[in-house]
Amino acid sequence: MTAVHDGDGTTRWGVLATGGIAATFTGDVQAMAGAEVVAVASRSEPSAKAFADRFGIPRAYGDWAGLVADPDVDIVYVATPHSAHRAAAGLALEAGKPVLCEKAFTLNAREAGELVALAGERGLFLMEAMWMYCSPVVRRMTELIADGAIGEVRTVQADFGLQGPFAPEHRLRDPALGGGALLDLGVYPVSFAQLILGEPDRVQADALLSPEGVDLNTGMLLGWDSGATALLSCSVTARTASTATVTGTAGRIELPSGFFHPDAFVLHREGRDPERHTVESPLTGMQHEAAEVSRCLRAGEKESPLVPLAGSLAVMRTLDAVRERVGVRYPVDN
Ligand SMILES: NC(=O)c1ccc[n+]([C@@H]2O[C@H](COP(=O)([O-])OP(=O)(O)OC[C@H]3O[C@@H](n4cnc5c(N)ncnc54)[C@H](OP(=O)(O)O)[C@@H]3O)[C@@H](O)[C@H]2O)c1
Repeated sequence: MTAVHDGDGTTRWGVLATGGIAATFTGDVQAMAGAEVVAVASRSEPSAKAFADRFGIPRAYGDWAGLVADPDVDIVYVATPHSAHRAAAGLALEAGKPVLCEKAFTLNAREAGELVALAGERGLFLMEAMWMYCSPVVRRMTELIADGAIGEVRTVQADFGLQGPFAPEHRLRDPALGGGALLDLGVYPVSFAQLILGEPDRVQADALLSPEGVDLNTGMLLGWDSGATALLSCSVTARTASTATVTGTAGRIELPSGFFHPDAFVLHREGRDPERHTVESPLTGMQHEAAEVSRCLRAGEKESPLVPLAGSLAVMRTLDAVRERVGVRYPVDN
């Protein structure tokens, strides 16, 4: 059941894993009203305890089973590497817990489909932590595009690249952990393009692969039968501008560096001065997605209209197609 603590309406989070994004998310949730982190789980008890001490979290579990069985946890936030999303989110859903699962949703579309089916069977809320889709600035942008502010969208450009090199033992280099630029970074440009244009009809790609066989520097060309295109890239070898532009027949919208969590965008309408658009909000960072999850749980919704499961599945199909084009295979692929 997607019951939310009915005492004071607070959403009580259980955080599964203790790495970088688990810490960022926990800090953001603890800084907002109406939410608290009541438990954390790790594969090891000392890590769980250290994380709980650092953030003042009441309960720490040295295995995932304790967290998902905790009656005080309203929702489990899965923050493991992608390779464990299927297992961790599946365990939580099997235990009757709603789940917010980090991006990339899973390693491949098959795993994503299994999670979506499981959530459906159990009648439980499930959402990919695609926080970009919950950004009020990004939502304002999509409203303007839908209202025809730039005419018919013809092309989307977006990139996300981090400065390398990453050591061979880093998770980004390990095929078993879903390593490579695509699932960590490329998921943002792909999700951005598909937010605007939907699932592409054609996918082309090229990539530089590491000795381990993961993609280090990847270019993608997506095509739609409408004639629209998207030119996207991701890299773990070079810090790209990490900007996005949506161009239509009557203008364009430019998002600044860090396009997936923007403070503002600039709308260029043909023949008019540029317009800068911002959205005032008391929430920051990942609080927008945490607030959307709370809203869904309170309303009894099984998925978020901002991050629909069909969209997450469609993104996973595109990522699968890109990997197929560039020759990246993970051990779980069949
Ligand atoms: N939304 C965002 O902005 C954002 C940003 C960065 C990353 N992410 C996503 O968040 C996920 C984690 O990324 P991260 O940067 O936080 O990684 P990270 O710092 O390496 O942390 C991942 C944590 O997962 C656990 N873990 C490590 N290897 C594991 C394995 N083989 N099986 C199961 N659990 C394992 C570990 O916690 P324990 O030792 O406690 O088990 C580890 O601390 C990835 O899917 C990534 O794409 C999202």
